[in-house]
Amino acid sequence: MADAARVFLCKTGDLSPGEARKVERADGPAIAVYNIEGVFYATDDCCTHGLASLSEGALEGDIIECNLHFGGFHVPTGKAVWTPCSIDIKTYPVETSGDDVFAVVGDA
Ligand code: FES
Repeated sequence: MADAARVFLCKTGDLSPGEARKVERADGPAIAVYNIEGVFYATDDCCTHGLASLSEGALEGDIIECNLHFGGFHVPTGKAVWTPCSIDIKTYPVETSGDDVFAVVGDA
């Protein structure tokens, strides 16, 4: 079985609780990394409703509110929870190694 490919997202100290950041990738869609009460999560950064960066939205508890039409997603599960969003956002498993935070994006 191939090793899962990992994308470096940030250092644990780079994001305070309640913050999100966009991480560009050369070989795939940008990822949004979130710190929710000290736990890191990762989703696709682009909203499923339109061309908006979710990391530029407002993180309210474990919901990210898109700043374009104010739809929302439950970050841990990717579920679309606030209209007009109806299509769930892709989530990625997050791994930490020391103080490095990675998203697991698939098989290498
Ligand atoms: S683009 Fe995100 S809610 Fe419309």
